[in-house]
Amino acid sequence: MKAVILAGGTGTRLLPLTSFMNKHMLPVGKHPMIYYGINSLRKAGIHDILLVTSKNALGMFAQYLGSGAAHGVFITYRIQEEAGGIAEALQLARSFITDGEKFIVLLGDNLFEEDIKPFTESYERQAEGAMVLLKQVSDPHRYGIPVFHASGTIERIEEKPANPQSDLCVTGIYMYDSHVFEFIDQIEPSSRGELEITDLNNVYAAAGLLSFRKLTGWWTDAGTFESLQEAASLLREGI
Ligand code: DAU
Repeated sequence: MKAVILAGGTGTRLLPLTSFMNKHMLPVGKHPMIYYGINSLRKAGIHDILLVTSKNALGMFAQYLGSGAAHGVFITYRIQEEAGGIAEALQLARSFITDGEKFIVLLGDNLFEEDIKPFTESYERQAEGAMVLLKQVSDPHRYGIPVFHASGTIERIEEKPANPQSDLCVTGIYMYDSHVFEFIDQIEPSSRGELEITDLNNVYAAAGLLSFRKLTGWWTDAGTFESLQEAASLLREGI
């Protein structure tokens, strides 16, 4: 299986740190943030990785990661010209993924403990559609939050809802097949002008094609000062 790591965006919630440094190159414990996603993929046996980032940040990623060889992976790079949303960044993977191929997407600011291999294996066995990983959180208004059918399947996802219907959030670990690019073509920019990953996942949910699994280990989205600090302390011992 191939992987796509999305590491563009503006990192506004981490200003002024991110005024000169891409969020995913900020130190978390012993390593820059980007290290941990790559390490999780390598441990799951995923070596072919596309990294999407901004043109300003590319040089630093290339300097740190190079071809990926030092990290036991092979990295391809793509530039997202402007921070046009997570789904816009994802569509840059179109030529990296072959027709019919399944792949995993990681948001570069998501740090987690769990081995992802059981999830990728489970997704490999899934006949069609996408899979998201959910995690119980205490602050659901910060995330994409699923609304469930009485049967327990996902009806839709609400992005940063004021009144969350659940305390399970959609983490930045997604699994898709190559049909995802046709679905991205169907969504429109949101009111903030971005192609939203939640709108994309809702196309799958509406078709009854969005499955989920739950993470049980720790997980954090290190996109704010508070969560960045939390991540650093969780990883203090270093991996
Ligand atoms: O962390 C999980 C959450 O991530 C989900 O629950 C939400 O549904 C999802 O929308 C996302 O929310 P965030 O507000 O945390 O997204 P953020 O704008 O911080 O972007 C997350 C990552 O995506 C970040 O590591 C960089 C990458 N990104 C983002 C944008 C907007 C890009 O590569 N390009 C972009 O244009």
